[in-house]
Amino acid sequence: MNHPAHGKARITFVVAAIAVGIASTAMAAPKTIDLPPDGVQMTPSALPGYAKAQASCVVCHSAEYMLYQPPTAARPYWDSMVKRMKVVFKAPIDDADMPEIIDYLVKTYGNEQPK
Ligand code: HEC
Repeated sequence: MNHPAHGKARITFVVAAIAVGIASTAMAAPKTIDLPPDGVQMTPSALPGYAKAQASCVVCHSAEYMLYQPPTAARPYWDSMVKRMKVVFKAPIDDADMPEIIDYLVKTYGNEQPK
């Protein structure tokens, strides 16, 4: 006695179970995503350089890098930092925007922060 129909039904069941497993894994995934430390954003400011720094300085890395800079760092330090980003890493920063970005950086992360 042969029951080909029975065997076929089993295979269909196994395939369906795998499909459900994949679907539920995919659906559960967004709930388990941990935000990487990359979530750090530029510190908000009324300075005109803020928007420009947001546009130019978190393209490649998070703003967390700014937080690790010494708060005693003066304007020339930030000036060379921004220039280094452009020259060494090819950061797409317009030369015309640099003074405002540097001004924002030194007043937000450097030694010109409001006391
Ligand atoms: C084209 C990509 C790119 C852009 C855009 C960019 N950076 Fe960077 N930055 C880098 C790389 C690469 C490093 C080195 C990362 C490393 O060593 O892990 C870095 C490192 C840094 C550091 C850490 C200190 C150091 O000396 O390495 C600071 C601070 C920093 N960047 C500031 C800025 C600022 C401010 C801007 C905007 C003016 C900016 N970055 C835009 C690529 C970029």
